[in-house]
Amino acid sequence: MSKQHVTTTVNGDEVEFLCATEQTLLDVLRDELHLTGSKEGCASGDCGACSVMLDGRLVCACLVLGVEAEGRQVETIEGMASGDTLHPLQQKFLEHAALQCGICTPGFLVAAKALLEINPDPTETELRYWLAGNLCRCTGYDKIVRAVLDAAAQMRATATKTTATNRGAQGAVAENA
Ligand code: FES
Repeated sequence: MSKQHVTTTVNGDEVEFLCATEQTLLDVLRDELHLTGSKEGCASGDCGACSVMLDGRLVCACLVLGVEAEGRQVETIEGMASGDTLHPLQQKFLEHAALQCGICTPGFLVAAKALLEINPDPTETELRYWLAGNLCRCTGYDKIVRAVLDAAAQMRATATKTTATNRGAQGAVAENA
């Protein structure tokens, strides 16, 4: 069967691949692009282990066809850290021991990041509802919830500090003008 040529952007990099029309985005990420951070849990959109962002929207990569990525922006767990610097969510998952087998972890991290981008200060209830599409068979969820809330608090504190620093710098420029 002939394959489709797809050009897309993954974690900021333009990539091209060939895929069969029935291949899922998850299959393409793992088998063609060798980005194996996104996991296949259920392959039916129930467990969230394959969560990725597609044009800024949280999706299960097992429910998206590879050909649907044409011309779009895909973000995966591989794009979360900045070089050797972990994203605050990744760091807090380590500090809170919020993973055991780790199969669910990439999906939780991608989903939690998506929430904090639209709601930097979620309540525990809001967070638990948001993460209801991500299943974990090991942790009992509490450590994951604590890790995300802790990361959110750290990210808010960092944002406040950055804003204050920028205001200070602007004030100094204005005084010297
Ligand atoms: Fe094993 Fe979540 S850590 S499924």
